[in-house]
Parts: sequence; structure tokens; C-alpha cells
Amino acid sequence: MKKLRAVSLFSNCGAGDVGYRKAGFEFEVMAELDPRRLEVCLLNHEGAEGVAGDLRVTWPTVIKKYRSRAGKTRPALLCACPPCQGMSSARSGKGSHDDPEAGSKDERNLLVTIVAKVALELQPGILVVENVPAFFSRKVHHPEDKEPVSAANYLISTLAENYVAFPIITDLCDFGVPQSRNRAFLTLVRKDLPGLKDMLKIGRTPFPRATHALDVGNSKPVTIMEALDSFGLPELDAATPTSATSAEYAGFHSVPVWNERIYAMVAAIPKSSGKSAWENEKCIHCGPVNVSADTIECPICRSPLLRPIVQDEGVYRFVRGFKSSYRRMHAERPAATVTTASGHIGSDYTIHPTQNRLLSPIECALLQTFPADFKWGNTLSKYGHSNVREMIGEAVPPAFTKMHGQVLRSIFLRKWEIAPMPQSDERVKKGWDKLAAAARKDGRTDPRTYFNLSLAPKPSKEKIKAFTFEAPDCNP
Ligand SMILES: C[S@@+](CC[C@H](N)C(=O)[O-])C[C@H]1O[C@@H](n2cnc3c(N)ncnc32)[C@H](O)[C@@H]1O
Repeated sequence: MKKLRAVSLFSNCGAGDVGYRKAGFEFEVMAELDPRRLEVCLLNHEGAEGVAGDLRVTWPTVIKKYRSRAGKTRPALLCACPPCQGMSSARSGKGSHDDPEAGSKDERNLLVTIVAKVALELQPGILVVENVPAFFSRKVHHPEDKEPVSAANYLISTLAENYVAFPIITDLCDFGVPQSRNRAFLTLVRKDLPGLKDMLKIGRTPFPRATHALDVGNSKPVTIMEALDSFGLPELDAATPTSATSAEYAGFHSVPVWNERIYAMVAAIPKSSGKSAWENEKCIHCGPVNVSADTIECPICRSPLLRPIVQDEGVYRFVRGFKSSYRRMHAERPAATVTTASGHIGSDYTIHPTQNRLLSPIECALLQTFPADFKWGNTLSKYGHSNVREMIGEAVPPAFTKMHGQVLRSIFLRKWEIAPMPQSDERVKKGWDKLAAAARKDGRTDPRTYFNLSLAPKPSKEKIKAFTFEAPDCNP
């Protein structure tokens, strides 16, 4: 088997690509906006060439660098995970999913056009895109006709001449990731790969079959406590600088120290309850008190309850924002999604199920399934905890990408290493339903039409002839 060359766009610290590498793909070029992230990425992908900077400007350099290394050989794999922050309307100010004006305002949502440009130039055997599920429905203005289109449908239709698209929407805990992480994946496979026909013949998709889901063989997800216990890390406590840091693990097992009030607020949330500080019925001075959900001050001493409360011009009020914050993770469920904000108590679900603290960077990395041999170099001392936490939160869990990579490699090998996901799987259906609903609303072609190989136009022989695959059985 000759090497399966790969290119990565929006690489972050290269975590997701570690999984594809472990499955047998070798990255030639990796591109990332933030040079600090690229530095870590290249530590983990020895031999890859990095392209730092904004891909809207640097994408021709990616092509040039790839060609200077591989000539006309097409990459087997192009991985592209554009940023997802602009996709979610859960954050304030993002507007409705159906508003292309709002979607296009955030330029990050248009980065999918760069993915299309690179794919059209390099013609990879397989293109993989990961994002939040809103990627399938969030509308932007089509770069050419200016009409509304979802970012994913834009990509599918732009590449439809030569590629067949396969979507899934899944919680990655279904694949053994000890964390609930709901994500959308698109895998586009070139129509001329012989392995594609093999796969379609057996009614499968270019994704691994779920391994830890109730709907598959009665298996079940890994809980946060099962995962954390298996790591065997020492306990931490956010009360003091000494108790909040472990001398081992080079600073990676360390959490922010809280002031007395924040500490007391978290300590008041019953352990293993999955409850939040918003539900606390306790005063720091008077102990348990009988109060309602909207009470702010202690009925006995008038000081603020142990709830997310701030003083604003002399008056106590609840912290503004979502009531999903200031909550302990559930002990008997997979961890809550590890985000870039894992170092903040007031954001998302970040509190340890039983200890009075947040999760440490090493715990976040392990819950994101970073392998133990992942290299960080001196990133932590050079750039600080927040940077490391952001890289971890942005990553695609490598345990999943390894399995995904094994399935993709099988398409080139024409031999299945692990079981691919059936087309009838509910995760596939969810993906198609969301894409089709978005296309219907926009008056665009149902993306499933492109899936029917006999309906889609044949790939242009001329374009294909210019390239050859190095992998056996994959020549056009
Ligand atoms: C979701 S992360 C990619 C995750 C990655 N696949 C992993 O597994 O670690 C998206 C990355 O795109 C980068 N990015 C955002 N805008 C960019 C741009 N205009 N050009 C290049 N990279 C960009 C961000 O810095 C971030 O690291």
C-alpha cells in the first residue's frame, strides 16, 4: 500500500488529524490561522508543511505547497473543519438560521467557499468536513447567485459533478467518546473511486458504525466518572493555589482558584446531582433557607444567596445569560461538551461532578480522546492555560477520526477493516433530513438527488486524466 496523502485546512492543533494519521493518512500540508495552534499541530504531524494565516488569503499557497511535494498526485484525503462559532444561533446576536443576511454577516460562515475552491483544485479522493449540526441548515448568500443556501448544501452542489456526499448528524458519545458532542459530518467521495461502488453495493456509508449506542447492539456510552476514574488523576480543589494544582503533569492538571463566595456556591451544589447553582437554597452565613427560584437575597440576613448573583450599582441581581451555566456535570452520563470555555465557570457545563472545581486541561484533553502521546511542547508555559483549553475545545475527537479514517482507508484498500455505517442508520437519516429541509426552504435541488449516481452527470474524463492516485486500484 503506497502512502495515502492528506491535506488539512483549519487544522487547529492537529488533534482530529491525529486520528486520520493513526488510520494511515499522511499529512503533507496543514493550514491554520493561529500560528500558536499550528506550532502544536506540526509537533504532532512531523514532516507536514504548515501554512499559517487566513485561508481566504493563503489557500493558493496550500495548493502550491502540496503540488511542490506531490506533483500531480491527488491527495487521498482533504480534511476541512471550518470554525463553527458563527454557525450557532444559540449565541446571542447570530440571528435566525433562516436569515442569509445574518449568516453571511459572520464571515466565518463563508469559509466553506474556500473548502470548495481547494477541493476543486486538488480533487482529493475524499473530502471530510466536520461542524456543528447548524452547518447543514444555517443560511448564507450563495457566492454566485446571491440567493440563500445552507453552507453544506453549497458545498455538496458545488462539488456534485465529481463527488457523492454522505452526511451524518451524531452524538460522538455513540462512538465511545466519553462526552456528549453533537456534530455534523459530511464525507464526499469521488465518483471514480472503485471502493465507492463496493460500499454502495453493501448499503453502507463512509462512516464507522456506532460502537457505544443503545440502538446498536445494546451498547452504551462511557460516563464521565468511568472515564475520569480510569485516568486515575489526583483530586484537585479550587479553594487554594496549592490544592488547585497537581505537581505532576507539567501544569496540565491544574484549575482556576475561586474566591470564597464562588467556592461556597459550587460546594453548595450537591455532588453527583447534575444540579446547578441557580437551584441552591443556601446562604453563605445562614446555611439552608426556604426560598423560591427567583429569590436573590437571604430572607434572614439579606446577603446574596449562593446563586449566580452580582452587585450592580449597589443592587443584587442574577448574572445575565443562560441558566445552563454554573451546573455540575452529571456523574452517570458522558461529560458535557468540552468547549473552548472549559476554564470558565459561567459558561456552559464546566463543573466537575463531585469535586469543587472545573476540569483540568488534561482531563478535557482526555475526554476529547487526545492520545496520551499527544505533544504540547512548551505551549502551556509559553501561551497559557486559556490557549491550551481553546485548542482542546475546538478539536474533533481523535478516537472518532481514527475510526472514520479506518473506514475511509478501506475505501482505497477495497477491504473493510472495521464495519462501516449502514445507510439505514438514523444518524444518516438525520443528516439527510436536515439538508433536504434546508434545500426545500431555499427552493434548491434536494441534495439527495446528487446521491443517485445514475442521475448525476458523469465526472469529466479530461479533468480526471490530469491526476493519478498513488493508492492501488484507485486510478481513474
Ligand atoms: C474547529 S477548529 C478545527 C479543529 C481541528 N480539525 C481539530 O481537530 O483540532 C477550526 C480552526 O479554524 C481556524 N480558523 C478560523 N478561521 C480561519 C481562517 N480564516 N483561516 C484559517 N484558519 C482559520 C481556527 O483558528 C480553528 O483552529
